[in-house]
Amino acid sequence: MRMDAEAGQETAAQADAGFLWDFWYPAARSTEIAGQKLVTAMLLEVPLVLGRTSEGKVFAMRDSCPHRGIPLSYGRLDGKVVECCYHGWRFDACSGQCVEIPSLSSQDKLKVERIFAGHYPCEERDGYVWVYMNSPGTRLPETIPGAPGLPVFSDKYKIAHLSCELPSHIDHGIIGLMDPAHGPFVHQSWFWRKRGSIHEKAKQFEPIPNGFRMSPHSPSTNSAPYQLLKKITGEPVTTTIDFVLPNIRTEIDQSGKMWFSSRATVTPVRRDLCRIDFVAAWNLFFLPVWIFRIFGKIFLRQDQETMIQQAEGLKHNPRLMLIDDADRPAKWYFALKANLIESRRTGAPMVHPMDGPVTLRWRS
Ligand code: FES
Ligand SMILES: [Fe+2]
Repeated sequence: MRMDAEAGQETAAQADAGFLWDFWYPAARSTEIAGQKLVTAMLLEVPLVLGRTSEGKVFAMRDSCPHRGIPLSYGRLDGKVVECCYHGWRFDACSGQCVEIPSLSSQDKLKVERIFAGHYPCEERDGYVWVYMNSPGTRLPETIPGAPGLPVFSDKYKIAHLSCELPSHIDHGIIGLMDPAHGPFVHQSWFWRKRGSIHEKAKQFEPIPNGFRMSPHSPSTNSAPYQLLKKITGEPVTTTIDFVLPNIRTEIDQSGKMWFSSRATVTPVRRDLCRIDFVAAWNLFFLPVWIFRIFGKIFLRQDQETMIQQAEGLKHNPRLMLIDDADRPAKWYFALKANLIESRRTGAPMVHPMDGPVTLRWRS
């Protein structure tokens, strides 16, 4: 029996699951974490228990009691302390530090304060609870950057959240997210575009830290919403799309004072399951949240159905292809990920797979 069940101890299985550690990942919606409730979540195959202290601060602990491993989520939260349901050990929710072991007698010398339940840095942003998943078996660095925020361009705006699960490895989830060629096939619909509208495109991309950017450009003329926006403002629409490791795609559309900003993250839950969290904010007066939600859900559902079908095929370990130029972003993603892992291993600066701006051409 292993008695040293420490926070985030890496198993051999986790090591080759293809996860990127030492990043923030969204674990839950802020609204789910309320009152004295303990909520479970899973990120990178790590079971988590989330909650909110009576002061309103969110926390994330490993959902496992360091005594015998029973999930702490079966216990209870009294505003500041999580109590295990089995032998009543009590842990400070924000630090994971043990504060009481009820069975200890006056004779016992055990240093309770040296016992910790696994815990992770936790922050709320844009309506999500983000958890910083530090590498199994490592200490947290002295300083960690803040959780990523969604760019907004005015004080007042609407905001909406959508999410769906994909039965896929994180890599397939991400390359699906950045894939420019599936639109006319997967997302055919009267309000967006028709298959017959497929035409040749040339887009410039440039390297950015840990990722790449589709340089500001006027978006596809065959998408109705962009045409509408242009008609209303009388000014050109520009779109900038970024991808940054580990999993973030941000798209910003602007026309005059109007803007629409969205972020999709694909978060690994397990090696065979990931989740897309999509948040959008905008100041377009003609777009109510409910309309956005209806169309957004249709889009996500289309992607989800495709990934479910793909998972069926991937069970049989087929050989796959990445072609130029439509799959070049996917190639960059794999190279960025490999180079980041390599630079973390060697301590040398990360090599970016792009050496400058490049134009990609495809039909979609
Ligand atoms: S298993 Fe949690 S207190 Fe014993
Ligand atoms: Fe899609």
